[in-house]
Amino acid sequence: MITVPVPAQHEADRFPAHGWVWDFLQPQPPDPLLALIGMFAADGRPDKIDLGVGVYKDSEGRTPVFVAIKAAEQLLLDKQQTKSYVGPEGDVGYFRRLTPLIFGDLDIKGRLSGLQTAGGTGALRLGAELIARAQPDARIHVGTPTWANHPPIFNAARLHLATHRHVDVATQRLCFDEIIDALSNAERRDTVLLHGCCHNPTGADFDVTQWQALAEIMAERGLLPFIDLAYQGLGDGLAEDAAGVRIVAAHCPELLVAYSCDKNFGLYRERVGALFALSATPEAAATVQSNLLSLARANWSMPPDHGAALVRIVLESDELAASWRAELEEMRQRIVAMREGLATIDPTLTPLAGQKGMFSTLPLSPDQIRALREDHGVYMAGSGRINIAGFIPANLNSFVTALAAVR
Ligand SMILES: Cc1ncc(COP(=O)(O)O)c(C=O)c1O
Repeated sequence: MITVPVPAQHEADRFPAHGWVWDFLQPQPPDPLLALIGMFAADGRPDKIDLGVGVYKDSEGRTPVFVAIKAAEQLLLDKQQTKSYVGPEGDVGYFRRLTPLIFGDLDIKGRLSGLQTAGGTGALRLGAELIARAQPDARIHVGTPTWANHPPIFNAARLHLATHRHVDVATQRLCFDEIIDALSNAERRDTVLLHGCCHNPTGADFDVTQWQALAEIMAERGLLPFIDLAYQGLGDGLAEDAAGVRIVAAHCPELLVAYSCDKNFGLYRERVGALFALSATPEAAATVQSNLLSLARANWSMPPDHGAALVRIVLESDELAASWRAELEEMRQRIVAMREGLATIDPTLTPLAGQKGMFSTLPLSPDQIRALREDHGVYMAGSGRINIAGFIPANLNSFVTALAAVR
């Protein structure tokens, strides 16, 4: 047994009233969604409904592993010979296979750089740090409401946030005029954050005409688009959900795309993402790449390998890719069916049928959200965000009844 000698001066006072460094920290609030998970688990009502957690669930309430991913895991298990380091760029084959999925057949060769990241979150953080390195006082325009983690990520990278409305939650209206107004008044070289598809938390996406208008204005005013594409395939389809990225890439010389495979490949905990950077010239792309590699080294050195290797294996195989596409399409159709079901039962929910992806935000007060939870067993985020994948055909009516009771 090893005995650790305790220095004499600490013996009488093993736990001093004051520390050295941690005393300067302030307590941080816990993630409210985690508290919601705990409350939901503790609720014994059999007909409770979980609309809080941000993961896809099937009609049995499960978040399954894709069949193609299971098969890829078996292949990886059988074939992988080493767990040695990859490199700060991650799995290059993974990155290469993702590129056409996102950019289609756009001619951007030589101007595209990028790397595998630790999830879409890592891609957002690395992209923000790249911007801050290029322009220490950079400003980023963000439409609200937005994913709750966007502001902390951009703040952590020391970008200055400028906000405008994306959606008027009360009326469920996309505030396109206000978005255009914000971009028309933006300064040259400002960054613009855009959700590529399946806007989180409102589901309010741009149509192709609106993307066109946004791309033109960003190109004309010299703005840097930063597109967060975390749900490709869960809105209108794989190619359709990338239309915004492709339109912007065709108009703007520079562009960042933060990509996540965590939802559309069901790999959440494996942390599978990528950051794509478009530059005006191949020379600039090489400089961007060298900066991305050095930023990655300082953040996580190299990204986790397993999930990205699985995505690569799936995309390399026609058979596994077809299976993945079919399963993703099934998930997408289930979400669409739940949206249409809600809109059919309750005309006040009509806007939900036109919104895309897993999330919508209902105009509910904190009291109404509490009453839904306490009196009816319906759990949702305090913002009124609901996860449409939390519905099954059998609970649509009871949800609508509960909603009517608290309104
Ligand atoms: C809009 C948006 N962007 C990015 C992410 C990050 O995804 P990941 O889990 O891959 O970090 C999420 C995750 O919820 C998201 O909703």
